[in-house]
Amino acid sequence: MSLIRPFEATDILRFHAVNADPWTATYHNGYYASYVAQWPSLCYSVQGAYDDEVRAYMIAKDEPAPPDPQHHGHLTALSISPPYRGLGLARVFMAMLERLSSDGSAGWPPQARDGTDCVDAYFVDLFVRCNNHRAIDMYEKLGYSVYRRVVDYYNGMEGVGSTRDELDGLDMRKSMPKDVDGSYVRANGREVLVSPEEVWA
Ligand SMILES: CC(C)(COP(=O)(O)OP(=O)(O)OC[C@H]1O[C@@H](n2cnc3c(N)ncnc32)[C@H](O)[C@@H]1OP(=O)(O)O)[C@@H](O)C(=O)NCCC(=O)NCCS
Repeated sequence: MSLIRPFEATDILRFHAVNADPWTATYHNGYYASYVAQWPSLCYSVQGAYDDEVRAYMIAKDEPAPPDPQHHGHLTALSISPPYRGLGLARVFMAMLERLSSDGSAGWPPQARDGTDCVDAYFVDLFVRCNNHRAIDMYEKLGYSVYRRVVDYYNGMEGVGSTRDELDGLDMRKSMPKDVDGSYVRANGREVLVSPEEVWA
């Protein structure tokens, strides 16, 4: 048993069981606090039922502010501690993010379809290491596709190796209902190579 609740700034004192994972980056304290301050409705934790340890979390945002035509939901971090994997928690988090990033008609839960707390963006995206096959497989199952490969996206990050697949990141996307003609996704994204500067431009 576990509880899904909003991510709190003090969760950084309780999430070591999650961040002890080599696929999970740990940022400075202010990074997490800025998400709680700016996008509290897009950040959630899973807490075990019998103590206050954090077992999983998702941190996300929406940017750039509407009516910018690139307005999208962005998954910044998603991590489930090993004993809590395979229970569907990542699927639930992603469905929550999709509902909140859409007009309310995508994702989950179905009883909250009115969309008053939703941002109605064009798509949801995320970056994932090219060698994180488990996560890439999962995102593909959930309907995400590669939009572009960002060369050296993870270069310089602590704990990252030196092979091309360790250094590069995939930018994966899923259209939300507002992208009616699918113009924010593409079929041949693995062949589209870009630099990090192009992503941040
Ligand atoms: C990747 C990760 C988030 C998956 O979390 P999870 O809670 O175990 O995933 P779920 O149980 O919700 O599974 C969701 C879907 O992905 C699939 N999936 C999960 N792990 C998978 C794997 N190893 N290989 C293939 N598919 C997998 C599940 O089968 C499920 O699909 P289904 O419902 O059709 O069966 C988790 O392994 C993790 O935290 N890894 C370390 C951090 C990380 O890599 N985060 C992503 C960085 S972008």
